[in-house]
Amino acid sequence: MELLFAASEVAPFSKSGGLGDVAEALPAALVAAGDAVAVVSPRYGFIDAAWHGFTPCERAVRARGDATTVWSRRRGRLTHYLVEHDRFFGSRRGLYGEHGHEYGDNAERYAWFCRAALEVPAAFGHRPAVVHLNDWPTALAAWLLRHEHATDPALARARSVFTIHNLSYQGSFSKELMPALGLPWELFGPDGVEFHGRLNLMKAGLAYADAITTVSPTYAREITTPEGGAGLDGLLRARAGQLTGILNGIDASAWDPSSDPHLTAHFDTHHLAGKAACKRSLQEELGLPERADLPLLALVGRLADQKGIDLVLAALPELTRRDLQLAVLGSGRRDWEEALQQAARHHGSRLAVRIGFDEGLAHRIEAGADLFLMPSRFEPCGLNQLYSLRYGTVPVVRRVGGLADTVEDFDGWRNGTGFVFTDYEPRALLTAVRRGLELYRDKRAWHAMMRRGMALDHSWARSAERYRELYRGLTER
Ligand code: ADP
Ligand code: GLC
Repeated sequence: MELLFAASEVAPFSKSGGLGDVAEALPAALVAAGDAVAVVSPRYGFIDAAWHGFTPCERAVRARGDATTVWSRRRGRLTHYLVEHDRFFGSRRGLYGEHGHEYGDNAERYAWFCRAALEVPAAFGHRPAVVHLNDWPTALAAWLLRHEHATDPALARARSVFTIHNLSYQGSFSKELMPALGLPWELFGPDGVEFHGRLNLMKAGLAYADAITTVSPTYAREITTPEGGAGLDGLLRARAGQLTGILNGIDASAWDPSSDPHLTAHFDTHHLAGKAACKRSLQEELGLPERADLPLLALVGRLADQKGIDLVLAALPELTRRDLQLAVLGSGRRDWEEALQQAARHHGSRLAVRIGFDEGLAHRIEAGADLFLMPSRFEPCGLNQLYSLRYGTVPVVRRVGGLADTVEDFDGWRNGTGFVFTDYEPRALLTAVRRGLELYRDKRAWHAMMRRGMALDHSWARSAERYRELYRGLTER
């Protein structure tokens, strides 16, 4: 089957979080299963397309009159396209914003991207059976497909799938932008893109895609409730028949502790010595005392409301009194960046904080830490707990979304892969950490726990098969 996959970030070219990872690995898994996939994303200013092996094709598409260069790179049945637009993407150093502020023209930028992405099939000779869209930046394409490509021979028969990676980012803008985006006012109604008097681009995906998916079964249920639906639960309940939760996988070759090029030592279930070496070099890299005996806790992620950083900050005074070390890597909310850095200045021998985005360090933290904190307020799937399991770093997670689906609470005896808590309270997090620290003292039980997590198979093959079934169901109708 031929597919068009569109996303606002695709690793290794661009990435701000898990979407970039998924947009890299899922198309590759679909290709491995026999499909042909064209992946389209924007060429942001920081992407050196030629270095990544792309070649340019000038004026390949002309979305709304703007002729644009499209860069392409073909590897077997997997083709990547980077669409160029100097003002919207080429001149930007960030993806969605810079210095903690969103760009003011994100609606125009991504509406343009949606149109450019849908011109790629005709321009490059693809006839996708399914167009797979991801999150609000690509949502408008579900409507465009039906209204601007209804007679396009390359796309007229294509079905659309819209995947919600995160319902809390909806692409909400002033309705006054409708004409500038080339959208008719008929679309601005409760069944279209209107939401509380504003233009809501995610709604275009929810209302017009032939199928909707999200990235874990539990999140699929949560978003149909008033507590988890971010205001869109009514629409999602109305479309419940077309909504499924398919768990994300991980790229098992990029995240493999036995061969990861970011690490100084390697390990696997049978040879754990390399992990101790990774811990030592991580402590050295972060300026923490090189103590094999102290449990090393870690957190890597966007410092956004979703991630439970306020719980960690509230728990810090107690955590830093204990015999442990904590490493944090992330960026996002300025006040939290500053609070974490301030705490690190006070507790330098116990707490190391790195603000920024550092792929290599993220891998080294996964490898070197003993426990990984993900106390998320909500979590559509979460990839970091899956990387942690694979790297023998026991996750401490809140029982929400994909965390609930992938981490099994330790039963106090010999089952479970992590420590799970329910209440969104610093106390609950601390209790789960305390349970972890207790087990850490019992080396045999701890190693058994690590090995149970490491033995799990969260590679993409199975989840990719679920997507293929969904695609087939849509196209056979
Ligand atoms: P989300 O998509 O909500 O950010 P996920 O757990 O699904 O959460 O994925 C996060 C991805 O982004 C992981 O690959 C993680 O390692 C990476 N990541 C997040 N913040 C950073 C950072 N500051 N430096 C390096 N990698 C990061
Ligand atoms: C989102 C979610 C995260 C998920 C990722 C990839 O950013 O916050 O939970 O793993 O998308 O689907």
